[in-house]
Amino acid sequence: MTEELRSIRWTGTAVRIIDQTALPHTLSYLDIEDVDGLVGAIRRLAVRGAPALGAAGALGVVLAMRQAGREGWAADRLAEEIGRLRVARPTASNLAWAVDQVEPLVAEGEAVVLEAALRVVADDEAANREIGRRGADWILERVARRPVRVLTHCNAGLLATTAWGSALGVVRELRDRGQIGLVYVDETRPLLQGARLTAWELEQESIPHLVQVDAAAASTILAGKVDVAIIGADRIAANGDTANKIGSLGVAIACHYAGIPFVVAAPESTVDLGTPTGQGIPIEMRDASEVVSWLGVPTAPASSGAHNPAFDVTPAGLVSVLVTERRTVEPAKGERPEQRPVPAAS
Ligand code: MRU
Repeated sequence: MTEELRSIRWTGTAVRIIDQTALPHTLSYLDIEDVDGLVGAIRRLAVRGAPALGAAGALGVVLAMRQAGREGWAADRLAEEIGRLRVARPTASNLAWAVDQVEPLVAEGEAVVLEAALRVVADDEAANREIGRRGADWILERVARRPVRVLTHCNAGLLATTAWGSALGVVRELRDRGQIGLVYVDETRPLLQGARLTAWELEQESIPHLVQVDAAAASTILAGKVDVAIIGADRIAANGDTANKIGSLGVAIACHYAGIPFVVAAPESTVDLGTPTGQGIPIEMRDASEVVSWLGVPTAPASSGAHNPAFDVTPAGLVSVLVTERRTVEPAKGERPEQRPVPAAS
């Protein structure tokens, strides 16, 4: 199943995404053919997760060019629409990164842009496979217990990437090596990416897991039930500070207190050397309705507002290791992504 599922692909005429808002009950697809459709899908999290957003951004430039042809846009309108796509969600660096990979090729024509966009997609899958191998190696060298019991937060699986997953890529690799134990899945308030998406992915492959409320994570870790926490990332600053789904910081603090590794698995496209520290990472604030209501039913007094940051920043000192497709960096030991040259891709 994992081999066939793609969160996002190019059909020849449209960007086809799995509609992540319909999971876990329905596996359905949306074919998107214009910029408005794609920006809307990104904003309502029908496609989400940093690397999947990158793929959407790259393919979205192709959609924008086609729409420009159909509707007779001038060059400045095309640039404006691509710009709208680039900032549809602000925290994940992959979205802007991927748009920036392909937009400079617009003058060379659609075929060249499409080829570059498809390369972004293919490179992400290859990156995830390598992240899985490197992450599993790192963990198996340091965690004595077998099988390895994992805690994860949000969804950094095949849905959040183009295939295989970053954090869940490491889990899948551990499974393939016969070393995966129970996976604790934080439900991930307020939109339940853990319960709806991560649990769905694990269930598809019969990987043993338990969904828990986010508030249970610290006590599960301190009770000694977890050997390692593995999460993805939306943006990694040059010093190793890491933005990921709100609640990741609490998991990192609990891991530090318990003395277990906190592993961040992400492609190099998530590393943003242009942002020196986590203080410079833009944190998306989302609508209050996500917090004070559920499926349209109010869960708080009508006059209550909500504080709803979508992400938090884990300081580098709490990150045991950053695993990318090219390297492992150990910020908790003082290593910083900016200090180590990235080995060239083979
Ligand atoms: O708001 P979301 O669901 O897009 O947040 C996604 C996350 O925080 C993921 O953990 C992150 O993008 C890594 S995905 C491989």
